[in-house]
Amino acid sequence: MPTELRPPKRSSGLGSIINTEQDVTPVVLAAMAQAPNARLREIAAAFVRHMHEFAREVRLTEAEYDIGVDFLNRIGQATNDRHNEGILFADAIGFSTLVCLLNNGNAGATETAAALLGPFWRMNSPRTENGGSIVRSPTDGPSLFMNGRMTDVAGKPIAGVEVDVWQASPVGLYENQDDSQADMNLRGKFTTGADGRFSFKSVKPAGYPVPTDGPVGDMLRAQQRHCYRPAHLHFLGYKPGFKTLITQVFVDDDENLTSDVVFGVTDALIGDYRRHDDAEAPEPAVKAPWYSLDYTFVMEAGEAKLPVPPIK
Ligand code: BEZ
Ligand code: FE
Repeated sequence: MPTELRPPKRSSGLGSIINTEQDVTPVVLAAMAQAPNARLREIAAAFVRHMHEFAREVRLTEAEYDIGVDFLNRIGQATNDRHNEGILFADAIGFSTLVCLLNNGNAGATETAAALLGPFWRMNSPRTENGGSIVRSPTDGPSLFMNGRMTDVAGKPIAGVEVDVWQASPVGLYENQDDSQADMNLRGKFTTGADGRFSFKSVKPAGYPVPTDGPVGDMLRAQQRHCYRPAHLHFLGYKPGFKTLITQVFVDDDENLTSDVVFGVTDALIGDYRRHDDAEAPEPAVKAPWYSLDYTFVMEAGEAKLPVPPIK
């Protein structure tokens, strides 16, 4: 047995014999209290306290414990390079949004409000010229012309921001969920110009159901919840010297803005997706109706770091 796993020769004084339900929590906390990493100590202790208290509060039965363990195991089994059920679960219980809001901003008072990365960001989306299209295989749906601007908190344009964009198609599927779309369809990476601007052509996104063929789907059905996200575009702005901005801009006429299955909508992130029935489109070949979206993103000074991609 490796030395570090051997039990101590002498009792620590606290004793580790557990006689009653009340004994368990302090003994477990004491067993974990030697971790040299202070942050690990803090997180593990709080986790154990809350988990034990949770079991006490609901007086968890053994059959319910078995269901919970099976649920966790199924989340792991449903996760692979193309799908991340763990993130989906955290999203569907509002945990991802809680962590996002704890760590980012002030509801748009200075920097643009952050929103979930979600399970569909891919690291190497194709670099695309400003004004270029992210439609990479035939994709039905009204055209959308997006004009974005990146500024600092003083309103000064930021040049050289790498802006990753990704979205679901008008039938509500990301390309990695849909064999009929080309690899990297509706994904692109843009760089802001000296005026802080970037722009692209796409199709208007649709709302979509989150995947429901795994344990998270079972949970939603048991809770009689719908499984839809309101339509949105995802943006990730990255430039050294600025805090990475991860957000979404929601379609203003979507019926599920107030019941997003993953609790991701804030008022500041509802965009003005403007429908044009008469005006000529920026590309003459595009027939009405077409849509435009103008949106200014504000980035704070800070650390630029990329998240771990949830899928490959
Ligand atoms: C998304 O916006 O891509 C997303 C976020 C949470 C769960 C599923 C999808
Ligand atoms: Fe999405």
